Amino acid sequence: MSDTVSPTPQDFIAEGTERKCFRHPRNPDRCFKVLHPERRLGRFWREVRYYTRLRHRAVDFHHLTVFHGLLDTSLGKGAVFDLVLDDDGRVSKSLDTYLASNDRAFNDWAVTEIERLKHYLYDHWIVFHNLNPANILVKRLGFDEFRLVVVDGIGHNHFIPLASYNRLYARNKIVRVWNRRYRQWYAAYPAVVSRLTPYLVI
Ligand SMILES: Nc1ncnc2c1ncn2[C@@H]1O[C@H](COP(=O)(O)OP(=O)(O)OP(=O)(O)O)[C@@H](O)[C@H]1O
Ligand SMILES: [Mg+2]
Repeated sequence: MSDTVSPTPQDFIAEGTERKCFRHPRNPDRCFKVLHPERRLGRFWREVRYYTRLRHRAVDFHHLTVFHGLLDTSLGKGAVFDLVLDDDGRVSKSLDTYLASNDRAFNDWAVTEIERLKHYLYDHWIVFHNLNPANILVKRLGFDEFRLVVVDGIGHNHFIPLASYNRLYARNKIVRVWNRRYRQWYAAYPAVVSRLTPYLVI
């Protein structure tokens, strides 16, 4: 008997430019991601390596999804992660989706939480290359209680992985990437981007 998982259309959750995300047919609290056929495997393996490294470092996964290893699927290798769910059991929506409504109270919350997330990533020296609001989900925990969870864009593409092992180097990279790119990531949301700040390097 083959252990290959064959996702059905009902298992499909969402897709980005690189991957499709499906609910795990045997474990409803997890999802798996497969690469679009024409995409190269480099980024996929880099992400797997980086998440494995984070697990060995025992970082706090409060704002991340835990990586649970690989799986053979009818669409190729799948990388298994926690599925981010709201308190009502539905798949959480992206920060993009929420920001699109341009609600003043939500924008205030989002600015505070994005800044908090920035500091969490710096403190735990978790390197990212793309923190755009489609890569962040808003997990509803209860009435008026939400948390940002990053589902993509974590890791780096350095061939020599100093940023995975050296705290100073990693933090340097974090500051550079955020300060150079956050205005572009949040450009569609002027009320938010104008209040986000660069990391201040002393
Ligand atoms: N762990 C998760 N739980 C729930 N939904 C998720 C999860 N991971 C991804 N998704 C959904 O699937 C979409 C695509 O996943 P992901 O961002 O990982 O793909 P991608 O193709 O690598 O993205 P990009 O376009 O940034 O390259 C996300 O924007 C999100 O809506
Ligand atoms: Mg993405």
